[in-house]
Amino acid sequence: MSSSFFENMELVFATNNKHKLEEIQNSLGSKVKLLSLKDISFFEEIPEDFETLKENAQQKARYIFDRYKINCFADDTGLEIESLNGAPGVYSARYAGLSCSFEDNIRKVLKELDGVKNRVAQFKTVIALILDGKEYFFEGSVDGEILTTNKGVGGFGYDPIFKPNGFDKSFAEMGLDEKNKISHRGLASKKLVDFLLNR
Ligand code: IMP
Repeated sequence: MSSSFFENMELVFATNNKHKLEEIQNSLGSKVKLLSLKDISFFEEIPEDFETLKENAQQKARYIFDRYKINCFADDTGLEIESLNGAPGVYSARYAGLSCSFEDNIRKVLKELDGVKNRVAQFKTVIALILDGKEYFFEGSVDGEILTTNKGVGGFGYDPIFKPNGFDKSFAEMGLDEKNKISHRGLASKKLVDFLLNR
């Protein structure tokens, strides 16, 4: 791939979550400029009607592509907890209710796992990319366990209660770079970047 393909490339990331934008922009480096939904003046709620991460990511990317005909990608992430039969899964954002906070979700998970020994969990991300009208998918996952109380103040979502295997700290106790190297979204976005670089 010539470097000119990549230089000054603009890609819409179908999100307004600044943590996620920051994380992926960090992996992409400076050659690709990520635009958020706000940057393209898109202020609607994008539907997520499906039961799988892949279909939801695809739906979000298509929603933007159909309207703007612009290169774009969307991600969908779920936290799957073994002893909760894979919940919250695709419902990770709204586990404690439609307009719940990250803290509400954490409280619900901790309550459901109260006294439960098996705390095995996995974060999974699927990225759907639409480039020049073609669709591509990239996946990443990280295995870990759910802590019994919050640890750390960084990150977002379930970060304070997720401890990745091989570390004795939670995601919320890691710096952005450290988390990005091993995280579900970091790994999926690395695949996205490698794909773009090798075109
Ligand atoms: P989304 O599909 O990326 O919006 O993720 C759905 C939900 O999963 C978010 O609202 C968060 O609660 C949670 N989540 C996603 N990524 C992370 C992460 O890296 N750390 C902790 N929680 C996350």
